[in-house]
Amino acid sequence: MGKVYLVGAGPGDYDLITLKGLKAIQEADVILYDRLINQQLLEEAKENASLIFCGKSPDNHSLTQEAINELLCRYALQGKVVTRLKGGDPFVFGRGGEEAEVLASYQIPFEIVPGITSGIAAPAYAGIPVTHRDFSSSVAFISGVSKVGKEQEDYWKHVVKSMDTLCIYMGVSKLPDICDQLIKHGLPSTTPIALIRWGTTTEQETVTGTLADIVIKAHGIKNPSMIVVGEVVKLREKLKWYEEIRDEKEVLLTSIVG
Ligand SMILES: C[S@@+](CC[C@H](N)C(=O)[O-])C[C@H]1O[C@@H](n2cnc3c(N)ncnc32)[C@H](O)[C@@H]1O
Repeated sequence: MGKVYLVGAGPGDYDLITLKGLKAIQEADVILYDRLINQQLLEEAKENASLIFCGKSPDNHSLTQEAINELLCRYALQGKVVTRLKGGDPFVFGRGGEEAEVLASYQIPFEIVPGITSGIAAPAYAGIPVTHRDFSSSVAFISGVSKVGKEQEDYWKHVVKSMDTLCIYMGVSKLPDICDQLIKHGLPSTTPIALIRWGTTTEQETVTGTLADIVIKAHGIKNPSMIVVGEVVKLREKLKWYEEIRDEKEVLLTSIVG
């Protein structure tokens, strides 16, 4: 019997994987990896490791979840060390729970290696602390796609009442609806909001505004983006750091290379 490691590769920056995650890549006979991982991490794999791309962009899953589950089990039952490499954390909107359930049902040994989720890392790289003693003592990680109809109404009502900071995953295509719901259920239209695309990578792009104007300001911003709502977003003006360092480096490089 082999073993499966369900590993969080972190949010995009190569250096944001854990040591345990890196070891699981280096030891694997087979790696099944998703679209949002930093592909450079695959260079750490053994020379003869099999690398299998699982896809998982919102509209293109190159392998179905069932096919992925089947491969995990098949390779482990062949005695292989299998690393399932996922963006961010495997248990935060990563279907890691479903995969672990399948492994448990076949009594296949597995370990979970947590990763830094994009709901924390993307705001951090944009200079937005998700909690702060003066502005926020609670934060919710929310999926922008899973709730519909009446259920959605109750859901937003509850969230608006009970949470200070909202980190909304997979919400960018629903941004107008999300802003409408938040205002309808009691958030002032002046509430600060940020969209961070490709957070922690060299492509990171951040747009800020209010619930009233973000749809216009963030026009054209696509997936993968993290939506952050709450007073903490205002801190970005003082705390933004990553884009500055990155842009300074680029200017320096251009001036050296010419
Ligand atoms: C299927 S979920 C996977 C979440 C992942 N397991 C995690 O913990 O970050 C994909 C969504 O995560 C968010 N996301 C993932 N990586 C991101 C990044 N580098 N920057 C901003 N958002 C990101 C986006 O909202 C994207 O639509």
